[in-house]
Amino acid sequence: MSTPSSSPEAAMTFAEGLLLRSLRLRPKSLYSPSQPFSTVRRPPSSRLGVSRSTLPFSTEEKGGKGASSAGDVCRLLDYFNPTIPITEALTPPSSWYTDSSFLSLEFERVFFRGWQVVGCSQQVKSPNDFFTGRLGNVEFVVCRDTSGELHAFHNVCRHHASILAYGSGRRSCFECPYHGWTYGLDGVLLKANRITGIKNFNKNDFGLLPLNVSSWGPFVLINVGKSIDIKQKNSSGVGNEWLGSASEILSTNGIDTSLEYVCRRKYIIECNWKVFCDNYLDGGYHVLYAHGDLAAGLKLDSYTTNIYEKVSIQSCESAPTERDDLDRLGAKALYAFIYPNFMINRYGPWMDTNLALPLGPNKCEVIFDYFLDPALMKDKEFIERSLKESEMVTKIASIGIILIKQVQELIEQAIFSSGTFARVSYELHYIHVRNHGTPSTWIIVDI
Ligand code: FES
Repeated sequence: MSTPSSSPEAAMTFAEGLLLRSLRLRPKSLYSPSQPFSTVRRPPSSRLGVSRSTLPFSTEEKGGKGASSAGDVCRLLDYFNPTIPITEALTPPSSWYTDSSFLSLEFERVFFRGWQVVGCSQQVKSPNDFFTGRLGNVEFVVCRDTSGELHAFHNVCRHHASILAYGSGRRSCFECPYHGWTYGLDGVLLKANRITGIKNFNKNDFGLLPLNVSSWGPFVLINVGKSIDIKQKNSSGVGNEWLGSASEILSTNGIDTSLEYVCRRKYIIECNWKVFCDNYLDGGYHVLYAHGDLAAGLKLDSYTTNIYEKVSIQSCESAPTERDDLDRLGAKALYAFIYPNFMINRYGPWMDTNLALPLGPNKCEVIFDYFLDPALMKDKEFIERSLKESEMVTKIASIGIILIKQVQELIEQAIFSSGTFARVSYELHYIHVRNHGTPSTWIIVDI
């Protein structure tokens, strides 16, 4: 896999991406989702909730002080009441975007509960393929053993806690760089050097610690908070667990294993991971004002969002244009946000995915993976041109990344506490409702 250098494209929203993709894609209408799972409903109001007139904390209290205890961290949750309708709610407090203790809580309650995308199936396409990664403080290695079975393990040597494998590639075993203990790709400890004479040592007790792993379509997922269930990890139920009822919609709308992997791009952005996701989900609102050039190429009145249990799907038509390359977009494309941090953009022969990984309270890594219709994989000129055309929206994306960084910087200042939602921001409202950890389905009001 190639890893091109980073660019401001990482800051693209749905609509920004739409413009970029309209510049490089052929027409192919693929968007035909069925009715969304949820219906609009009004949650009950709360006597204890946040209102515009009753800020939950003083500016001194929120001005950079981290939560110092588990109780303080949980108290940060109470600063956002998920039952208050979007028309009355404030956005979550700035501490949700700045407090390292709150990020730890997010790992515990969000990232370590449920399936998380960690890579692509093509990274472990053949026996002995592997790739490594980190989710919070969990180092992991995903690999396919010599018999073809998919595995994931803690990427930590059982002898003395060294990192075992680095990067990605193909190998027949993992040899620890510290003292040379060697493991098979099925996790079995094959060799432990110079332990002759150590009593009660049994190699079978020192295999790699397994993680729950599965794949859905072209994606590899792990679940670090779930006990291993060999029967379940290969079941189709993983798709339903991860995507809910949107699983079928996505798989029948071109998000599948037929696409070929093209390349990866990585970006480090100095902002909380939720700032990136907020910006993606907010596209239907801010594009009109922040990206006038882009808005001119879109029919914003056609901007629609369908919301399911764990997934929202956006679509927008491009405005009529005399430019052939813009016409190639076709009527619609499918853009899915999967809670909490994964975005799938499917348009024409292309698909790209955006994974926003927290690196700290004010830093995240966004990984873009590009996939293409296999019929076009030999058209190197088309691929190169398509990827190069991303530079055409550098100016637009630069504005986006500047805005994102500014948002993070200003959130960290003591003077800002909470903002408000717009009526079109129900997706954004939802992610915070869900991040609160209380609801099991979207709560949508007054849209
Ligand atoms: S830490 Fe791996 S062999 Fe010692």
